[in-house]
Amino acid sequence: MCGIVGYIGNNDSKEILLKGLERLEYRGYDSAGIAVLNEDGVHVFKEKGRIAALREIVDKDVEGHVGIGHTRWATHGVPNRVNAHPHRSASGRLTLVHNGVIENYEQLKQEYLQGYSFTSETDTEVIVQLIEKFVQDGMLVEEAFRTTLKALKGSYALALLDNENEDVILVAKNKSPLLVGLSEGCNVVASDAMAMLQVTDQFLELMDEEYVVVTKEEAVIKNLDGIVVERKPFTAQIDASDIEKGTYAHYMLKEIDEQPFVIRRIVQEYENADGQIKLDDSIRQAMLDTDRIYIIACGTSYNAGLVGKQFLEKLANIPVEVHIASEFVYNMPLLSQKPLFLFISQSGETADSRAVLVAVKKLGHRALTLTNVPGSTLSREANYTLPLYAGPEIAVASTKAYTAQIAVLAILAVDTARAKGIALDFDPIHELSIVANAIEALCDNKEEMEKIADEYLSHRNAFFIGRGIDFYVCLEGALKLKEISYIQAEGFAGGELKHGTIALIETDTPVFALATQEAVNLNIRGNVKEVVARGANACIISMKGLEQDGDRFVIPAVHELLTPIVSVIPFQLIAYYAALHRGCDVDKPRNLAKSVTVE
Ligand code: F6R
Repeated sequence: MCGIVGYIGNNDSKEILLKGLERLEYRGYDSAGIAVLNEDGVHVFKEKGRIAALREIVDKDVEGHVGIGHTRWATHGVPNRVNAHPHRSASGRLTLVHNGVIENYEQLKQEYLQGYSFTSETDTEVIVQLIEKFVQDGMLVEEAFRTTLKALKGSYALALLDNENEDVILVAKNKSPLLVGLSEGCNVVASDAMAMLQVTDQFLELMDEEYVVVTKEEAVIKNLDGIVVERKPFTAQIDASDIEKGTYAHYMLKEIDEQPFVIRRIVQEYENADGQIKLDDSIRQAMLDTDRIYIIACGTSYNAGLVGKQFLEKLANIPVEVHIASEFVYNMPLLSQKPLFLFISQSGETADSRAVLVAVKKLGHRALTLTNVPGSTLSREANYTLPLYAGPEIAVASTKAYTAQIAVLAILAVDTARAKGIALDFDPIHELSIVANAIEALCDNKEEMEKIADEYLSHRNAFFIGRGIDFYVCLEGALKLKEISYIQAEGFAGGELKHGTIALIETDTPVFALATQEAVNLNIRGNVKEVVARGANACIISMKGLEQDGDRFVIPAVHELLTPIVSVIPFQLIAYYAALHRGCDVDKPRNLAKSVTVE
């Protein structure tokens, strides 16, 4: 969601900025822009829609060794060229890009900027006008920038150009992600290391309420009192080839195919030489010390959390509550005596989850983050982190991160059970290897999934039903389908349909039913009969050993607790082909962002 890039150095900045923005496309956006500064002043190019459209209008003859760029996901004001960033101050001297939301922008307008006219509907324009106002009041630009930061309430990642100083980009961060990349003869700015990997793998992490004076020689971090903060750069552990699509038509398909590898990597990373689970002792201790786990997550990560609850309760005997982050933060339930908060987040940047983390830390509670991006905000600010090792996930629809989350949750649950002395007939390392083979077999059978998508998904709606752990996979199957193909889809507990929703079943309504759990195999089949009796076109996906005549597809047998990692694969592929055949933008579905950095 929104992305920032910046470059200052010896080369022309245009192409570096545009390439950087393309690398941030996956985060989701609806307009984009760049500003390039040279001796003639600043040149701003903005366009609604894709970076490709922006490329078309960028004047190829304009060159400049310093520049900033932005992808915008509209919050204040519709997505159009005027509201797109960069925004300029009234005199045109200052140019700014901003991610985040300024909560007090109306107040700032009233207090400081009466009589100013604004060209856009954005909160961002208030920031740049305010910096200029302070400059006009006599402050130097850096002081005006810092004074403005102190006045802002809300979240921001900012980059500022000054027409009168081609040697500096000022950047700042609060709650929204931002990194400064260091290289020989140039320095860069990016919301995400991936955007600037073509320039460097050395990055400076910024903390909230810090700003940086970036020149081509150095990057000086300061706090809001102007005091210099020393920090060493870190090396981004991303292979540039991980973020290429290769021969795949879409990142989503590539990421679906990567899942066997991801599961095997998780097994490797979490297995000791002696075959035991490798986990930090402090995490193990936190798991032993708690009397209740509160899983906090959003979307697909929430769906993985529902599966994780089963593991933690059934294997490790710890009560678990799973909460949607955006609800929990404003409606906190009564907490147990010794709660442990478990944040699940692919990106580690989700603002809704972060709001909960901030709130529970204030209450003095411990937090563990499961994330694909160690070093992300949720990872840094929690007490402990468990990495997912899934590699960068670029497609907006999460696939490999979901299965990785479930695999790591299974490992965590088993480790806790063992630490508690609970005897288990379940070796996750061995079982996950079987799971990886099963996913591979499904990925080799894509034609069948494509056929199923064509056979069943000509309607504008679809239902997914399952019982027990299958129900949670149905929630995820429905989410995948709706987010990329725009077919209205809902996941339901098989037994719950008859309490209302069955009224929606008409002739040929597609109903996908999962049957991977022996204990409820007959029950879910009963539920299928109920919908078929009302005209539904039912597609039963069962597991080997539980199959019956008429099942449309049978997945390989795996341990019954780990079935979600396998049974979700047909749903991911069916959603992919449904979206593809409907002409949807599979990797960048409308209205969605990969990294949801506003609450
Ligand atoms: C759906 C999807 C979203 C995310 C949600 C949370 O495919 O990806 O539902 O799961 O926005 O994001 P993270 O996991 O980054 O916190």
